[in-house]
Amino acid sequence: MDIVLLGPPGAGKGTQARRLSQTLKIPHVSTGDILREAIGDGKSPLGREAQEYIRRGELVPDGVMVDLVEERLRRKDAAQGVILDGFPRTQAQAEALSTLLKRQGRSVEHVLLLDVDVEELTQRLSGRRVCKGCGAVYHVNFNPTKESGKCDRCGAALIQREDDREEVVRERLKVYERQTQPLIQFYKERSVLHPIQGQGTVEEIFDRLLKIVGRPH
Ligand code: AP5
Repeated sequence: MDIVLLGPPGAGKGTQARRLSQTLKIPHVSTGDILREAIGDGKSPLGREAQEYIRRGELVPDGVMVDLVEERLRRKDAAQGVILDGFPRTQAQAEALSTLLKRQGRSVEHVLLLDVDVEELTQRLSGRRVCKGCGAVYHVNFNPTKESGKCDRCGAALIQREDDREEVVRERLKVYERQTQPLIQFYKERSVLHPIQGQGTVEEIFDRLLKIVGRPH
């Protein structure tokens, strides 16, 4: 089953995608995480190319992103489907995804659109903290760690993502509106779009998503 999680920055795509992946037992493919990993290792050409775009809150060019996802979909663990988080983000990426999946006799089955108002998005992003060691995601108010500034899972320090600074968040929201929102119509026309109320507890939202994709037996 191939699922796309769509929604603005901070809508909870990563949070929900990780849960769906565990429950449905299909891999979570986050293009943002892949890019951040490439930047983190400091050596990869992909990381060097992506870094400046991410810092400014702009999108990495379509060609780079499509090649990256194509490579990821070819891996063995993706054969039964994937949960895409952060891809596609433009019409060109959405068309490329259809072509890539079609080659394998697949298609996007569900597009889960998380709907969250701008005020809440801003609060979520400004309070988000990420573990430097294992990448776990927290929130200073909504999902705090037991010990301040320290990951519950591995004990490493928490950091704020560079693109969660206020001025970059404003740019990311604009980019979403301009370049990604048109995908709502794209997927509506293909009858796979499911708008979901993205406010409430993480569990409540997860239940809404499971009602659409179905609980595993
Ligand atoms: P990416 O990492 O994909 O960022 P994003 O789409 O902007 O999404 P976020 O990761 O900010 O938010 P999210 O929706 O996953 O929310 P989360 O679950 O963390 O991309 C980063 C950059 O990479 C892009 O700007 C671009 O430059 C580049 N890029 C990536 N993909 C690309 C592509 N396809 N094409 C081109 N460029 C690309 O939740 C946010 C916070 O809220 C957390 O603290 C969480 O704990 C909290 N939270 C979650 N759910 C709830 C809830 N229900 N209640 C309260 N708090 C909650």
